[in-house]
Amino acid sequence: MRLKDKVAIITGAGSGQGKASAKLFASEGASVVIAEWNEENGKQVEQELVNAGYTAVFMKTDISNEENVRSVIDQVVERFGRIDILFNNAGIGFSSRSRYKMAPLLETPLGDWNQILSINLNGVYLMSKYVLPIMIKQESGSIVNNSSLNGVLGVTGADAYTASKGGVVALTRVMAVDYGKHNIRVNCICPGAIDTPMIAEVLDNEKIAKSYATNPLRRVGKPEEIAHAALFLSSDESSYITGLIMPVDGGWSVA
Ligand SMILES: NC(=O)c1ccc[n+]([C@@H]2O[C@H](COP(=O)([O-])OP(=O)(O)OC[C@H]3O[C@@H](n4cnc5c(N)ncnc54)[C@H](O)[C@@H]3O)[C@@H](O)[C@H]2O)c1
Repeated sequence: MRLKDKVAIITGAGSGQGKASAKLFASEGASVVIAEWNEENGKQVEQELVNAGYTAVFMKTDISNEENVRSVIDQVVERFGRIDILFNNAGIGFSSRSRYKMAPLLETPLGDWNQILSINLNGVYLMSKYVLPIMIKQESGSIVNNSSLNGVLGVTGADAYTASKGGVVALTRVMAVDYGKHNIRVNCICPGAIDTPMIAEVLDNEKIAKSYATNPLRRVGKPEEIAHAALFLSSDESSYITGLIMPVDGGWSVA
């Protein structure tokens, strides 16, 4: 019960890494808020957790919409009275290819660039903007941001996505510096290729799938492997760690 009595908000908890984290955090004793814009998936995860005897609630959230974010955080405080953990996990990427162009800079239209940044980067800003005052009042809190290896390496082919994830890395560092004095820790995970719906289409391409598995551990990661990293950074076990940019990538970034 490493998160006993803690209240955790996980964005994008209706799928992939967020869903795996919701399950793990709940099983470790946290009350989990599933902040997700896909109603069907969010409700399904809520049902699954409640059926297992855990405390979980789905709150429909678009992390890029300030009014929506403000109202969700108000509801969380009304219901639970505190917020101990914010896992800024939600994001859009390769799964959204039909909606947004994932391409090098010259082929990226401004509209798509803005949309991708408004979710992947502004979403982290907005959620943090409304959660931080609660954590400052409590004089404690842990924020974990989900970036990507794209945020630290020059991974080509999705330049708006890459810029958004680089922004998340930079924001993590400065938030850790600014809010450490309030006993708030801010850390960041940089996943490599993780087998979730986000890259399902990409993994369907045998050649790309093979290239994703050329890291030292010779395989793509599982969403549960990110959930465990998020659990460590969220829990008091990492109480002296802040500003960490942690690759969870099968060794991809050092090979
Ligand atoms: N899968 C990978 O290989 C990989 C690699 C590096 C980083 N990441 C990052 O990990 C995070 C989780 O992705 P995943 O792999 O679990 O993908 P996923 O597509 O399975 O899950 C993302 C979730 O975020 C939700 N979401 C998207 N926009 C939202 C919004 N505006 N408001 C609320 N919810 C929203 C989606 O509905 C979905 O449930 C993302 O930030 C992603 O960029 C993924």
